[in-house]
Amino acid sequence: MAELLEVNGLTKRFGGLIAVNQLSFSIRKGETVGFIGPNGAGKSTVVNLLTGYLKADDGTIKLEDRHITHAKPWQRAHFGLARTYQIPRPFPELTALMSVVTAVLCGKQRVNQSLEDAGVEATQYLEFVGLFSKRNILARDLTFYELRMLELARALATTPKLLFIDEVMAGLNPGEAKRAVEMVMRAKRHFGLTIFWIEHVMAIIMDAADRVIAINYGQKIADGTPDEVISNDVVIEAYLGKGWRQYA
Ligand SMILES: Nc1ncnc2c1ncn2[C@@H]1O[C@H](COP(=O)(O)OP(=O)(O)O)[C@@H](O)[C@H]1O
Ligand SMILES: [Mg+2]
Repeated sequence: MAELLEVNGLTKRFGGLIAVNQLSFSIRKGETVGFIGPNGAGKSTVVNLLTGYLKADDGTIKLEDRHITHAKPWQRAHFGLARTYQIPRPFPELTALMSVVTAVLCGKQRVNQSLEDAGVEATQYLEFVGLFSKRNILARDLTFYELRMLELARALATTPKLLFIDEVMAGLNPGEAKRAVEMVMRAKRHFGLTIFWIEHVMAIIMDAADRVIAINYGQKIADGTPDEVISNDVVIEAYLGKGWRQYA
């Protein structure tokens, strides 16, 4: 598998706090990489740095041999990066359909695409995530699960190569969480995505990920197969805890 993303020495400071500290890793095309670590370890900050929502203090980010370290978020979207947020960020006053239309129009350099064509395309993404019947509902009137699916539809509508997922299960009940995870895996297969997945539920990571990267205090503490990483003493000490298996 070829490298899709290469991160070298990535560093982010918030005042005196070093949230991400000289972090290096790569993601190969087609991989599902689980990204784990304790609360406050710097996981969301890493995704914010990679998508351009935050500016790195140091380090380089390369996507398919293109340096994107200083690229703007919309440029990174054009190059093929998309994300979902830990807490959904809808446009409350837009319908589900218009929310996805916006993503269709923003996701690529398709200046000539008509609104009508974008609408047809957006409808297909809503159908994919199971929100077709909600297309004319305002985002603010959707349930939390529906908002999560709308986020996914918006991310897919930008036709990403690499999708960042920040805790897709947070705030969902067990049945919804299972459906959400299945939807992500279905999207991966259908659209040929590469996935970088922050998730606290280890059973999901063990199931879905080809590889797991663990961080603590913004530094990498493990990088390997799920089995290797969950039996790593440093990871057990920092994150999983000794008795974690009985709760998994
Ligand atoms: N915008 C910010 N300003 C100041 N501190 C922040 C900001 N975002 C995150 N942090 C801090 O950086 C650290 C890493 O946070 P975060 O990336 O959200 O961790 P995780 O997602 O792993 O729980 C935490 O100590 C957090 O309080
Ligand atoms: Mg987080």
